[in-house]
Amino acid sequence: MDRRKFLCAAGTLAAGLAGMGAAGVAAAATVKEGAAGLGGKTLDAALRARKSQREYADKPVDEPQLLELLWAAFGVNRPDGRRTAPSALNRQEISIYVARKDGMFLYDAHNRALTRKFKADLRARTGVQGYVGTAPVNLVYVADMDRVAGGTEEARLVTAGLDTGFISQNVYLYCAAAGLATVARTGIDTQALAKTMGLAPNQRIVLAQCVGHPKE
Ligand SMILES: Cc1cc2nc3c(=O)[nH]c(=O)nc-3n(C[C@H](O)[C@H](O)[C@H](O)COP(=O)(O)O)c2cc1C
Repeated sequence: MDRRKFLCAAGTLAAGLAGMGAAGVAAAATVKEGAAGLGGKTLDAALRARKSQREYADKPVDEPQLLELLWAAFGVNRPDGRRTAPSALNRQEISIYVARKDGMFLYDAHNRALTRKFKADLRARTGVQGYVGTAPVNLVYVADMDRVAGGTEEARLVTAGLDTGFISQNVYLYCAAAGLATVARTGIDTQALAKTMGLAPNQRIVLAQCVGHPKE
C-alpha cells in the first residue's frame, strides 16, 4: 500500500476508534491491522475482483501483510474474543497452519503472531497439484473435532466445513482487496499431511489455501 492510501485508511480508522470509547481500546490494535491491509478498496470492488489463481510470483508475502491477512481470515475483532468469521456455537474450532519456505507455523489469533511448529519447507506437501509448492504461503485449515458443534459425526463434519468456508472466503476477499493471488484447495493427501504435521486423532484437515503475489 502506498503512503497516501495508508494515511487515508489510518485516518478513517482513527475516526472510527474515536467513537469506540475505552472498551474498544483492547481491540483497537487488532482492528488497525485489518483496516490498513484492505487498502481502501470497497467490499464491492473486492467482490468484483475475487477469483482463484494458481500462478504465483517468486516473491514472499511479507510478515506484516501475512498477519493482516490472517487477522482478516479469523482474527479477534471484538473485546470478548469473537472473531472475523462466525463459527457454530462460537466454538472457534478451526486452527490455521501457515506453511512457508522457512517452516510451518500456527496462527495465534489472540497474540496476532505466528508460532513455529516445523523448520522444514512443507509447502508442496499441503496439496497434490504441482503449483502448490510454488506459492509462498499455504494455509492449512485444521478442525478440532472434539470442539466442533454437532450431534453426529456427519453434522460435525458439515459444520467444520462450513466454519472453514467462512474463513477461506475472508482470505479470498482480503487477497482480492490487496492484489494477492489465492486458491482454496481440497486436493490434499490429508492422511500423509496429518502425519507430517503430527496431528492428533481429533484434528482433521478440512481445506488448504495458497496465497502469494500473482505472476505477472
Ligand atoms: C471447497 C473447494 C475446494 C477446491 N479445491 C480445489 C483444488 O483442490 N484445486 C484447485 O486447483 N482448485 C480448487 N478449488 C478452487 C475452484 O476450482 C474454484 O473456486 C472454481 O473453479 C471457481 O473459480 P473461481 O474461484 O475463480 O471463481 C476449490 C474450491 C473450493 C470452494
